[in-house]
Amino acid sequence: MSTPTTSLPGGTWTMGDLTVTRFGYGAMQLTGPGVMGPPADRDGALAVLREAVRLGITHIDTADAYGPHVTNRLIREALHPYPEALHIVTKVGAVRDAQGGWPPAREPDDLRRAVHGNLEALGVETLDLVNLRLGNAEGPQPGSLAEAYGTLVELQRQGLIRHLGLSNATAAQIAEAQTIAPFVCVQNLYNLAHRQDDALVDRLAEQGIAYVPFFPLGGFSPLQSSALSAVAARLGARPMSVALAWLLHRSPNILLIPGTSSVAHLRENITGAGLALSEEDLAELDAIGR
Ligand SMILES: NC(=O)c1ccc[n+]([C@@H]2O[C@H](COP(=O)([O-])OP(=O)(O)OC[C@H]3O[C@@H](n4cnc5c(N)ncnc54)[C@H](OP(=O)(O)O)[C@@H]3O)[C@@H](O)[C@H]2O)c1
Repeated sequence: MSTPTTSLPGGTWTMGDLTVTRFGYGAMQLTGPGVMGPPADRDGALAVLREAVRLGITHIDTADAYGPHVTNRLIREALHPYPEALHIVTKVGAVRDAQGGWPPAREPDDLRRAVHGNLEALGVETLDLVNLRLGNAEGPQPGSLAEAYGTLVELQRQGLIRHLGLSNATAAQIAEAQTIAPFVCVQNLYNLAHRQDDALVDRLAEQGIAYVPFFPLGGFSPLQSSALSAVAARLGARPMSVALAWLLHRSPNILLIPGTSSVAHLRENITGAGLALSEEDLAELDAIGR
């Protein structure tokens, strides 16, 4: 597949030796309801992935737990052999149960199985970037990551993983990981209304480490705020566009992975993320989550 040179809002960011567009794509929405099973519109899901790459996106976020095994297989079907510029970021550390829950699976054998499962489902010999997903569905939880992270470091040494990242992590776990081995990104819950990681975003920016907010549009509960609506109305834009544009303005190390199952929303989000925001807009938006 050829690699288009379209320039996307926010430009690029480099994680280790991986240069990605700051506007990326999160594939979790490509499954059935509750992130379980196949999508109702399989061709539509494949079309979203192909359009993402056609538009120049070079960062796709996934996990073998989505479906489970659904998004990775769709990505492979839609995009393999992958363009050289495309980087697929996956995560390990949780599996799915029969009720659609996300029980942690971070014993060394769980993680080895998950890495091999991702390699097989995506059809690659090395995973570009693997996030260790910590905590649980309620959010980050305290506790040492040493054994789990050490297992991924070992798999990295074996050549199965190029770069490591952390997800759903506490500040203490991030500090602990830094004493063990380098990582290139942190993927935590963050958006206009959820600013718990503000200090972390800035600290990682100083260290040249990417911060990848999940639920940039609010996830399963779309962002709603009268201040956001007011700024959007003033700009003649959609609130979701403003929310994405704000994230790109927030810090240069923020990478976007908004999810969508719709080609139209994907296009709208790319255009929207490029909105110019004035100092006044930014001040009003900044006040929402503080
Ligand atoms: N590390 C973790 O623990 C973790 C947890 C959750 C998610 N993630 C990652 O983060 C990515 C993003 O999260 P997310 O997809 O859950 O949440 P999100 O990006 O905040 O929001 C996605 C939701 O917004 C809707 N949407 C997107 N664009 C829209 C538009 N222009 N107009 C109206 N609705 C729009 C989507 O519906 P449509 O499909 O109808 O567009 C979908 O319901 C995921 O894909 C996943 O890769 C990671």
